[in-house]
Amino acid sequence: VKRSCIFITGTDTGVGKTLLTCLLVRHLLIRGESVAAMKPVCSGGRGDAERLHLALSNTLTLDQINPWHFRASLTPLLAARRERRKVRQARVLAQIHRIQKQFSTVLVEGAGGLLSPMGEDFDSRDLMLALDATPVVLCPNRLGAINQVLLVLAALPASVASRARIVLTSSRIADAASRSNLLLLREMLGRWRVHALPWLKSPQALDRCLKSGGVQQTISSLVSRKKIPLRPFLKRQTEESHENPS
Ligand SMILES: Nc1ncnc2c1ncn2[C@@H]1O[C@H](COP(=O)(O)OP(=O)(O)OP(=O)(O)O)[C@@H](O)[C@H]1O
Ligand SMILES: [Mg+2]
Repeated sequence: VKRSCIFITGTDTGVGKTLLTCLLVRHLLIRGESVAAMKPVCSGGRGDAERLHLALSNTLTLDQINPWHFRASLTPLLAARRERRKVRQARVLAQIHRIQKQFSTVLVEGAGGLLSPMGEDFDSRDLMLALDATPVVLCPNRLGAINQVLLVLAALPASVASRARIVLTSSRIADAASRSNLLLLREMLGRWRVHALPWLKSPQALDRCLKSGGVQQTISSLVSRKKIPLRPFLKRQTEESHENPS
């Protein structure tokens, strides 16, 4: 079995990363696959790790899911400083590698957005690149989303951006921007790269949510190994990065 690592990040905090990770966990478990999920660094309490723990139905302990946690609701680097503690990337990587040995798929949830400082010497982007993980980028589907998604992709090396999947998370009320964002991003980045997570009335009922057609389609395409052909936007990035290797 090919081992895979999926890194769940986003344009911001509170964009649905934990909800999506829990849905991916349930989907893979129901299919009988071996899956782990981690939120290596939590700040503002351990709520995310507890949600992952519940979704995983006790296959991992809370400390395996989340080795580092800090009380303050601040970016993890600052929350750790309040407790005079330091988190270094090498130690986080070692914990993730340990879990990777036991599971064929490991889902890793970042903290905050792509460049939120996670520890002394790293952010989500650094960790994702060090893991050679497939990025899943969440963005709330509202006016401004296209810019935010393109900024995140532009911040990744072209070879990694070309593997990324985008998930636009719906708000309760769809408007003209949210309907057209999905279509334009698909036009720019490729139909199979961009997905939507519908608004869920009771997101804590994960298995029930998975039964809805829209959710099932998004979740299963995120874990498919289908190769997505490069589209113009990303092709241009790839060519540019070949022209100016830095
Ligand atoms: N599609 C959706 N339908 C209904 N509720 C949603 C949806 N997406 C997110 N939410 C709710 O919004 C809140 C924030 O989502 P979530 O905790 O998954 O965000 P996050 O990106 O993991 O945040 P953090 O940066 O704190 O880790 C949660 O209460 C979640 O249940
Ligand atoms: Mg979260």
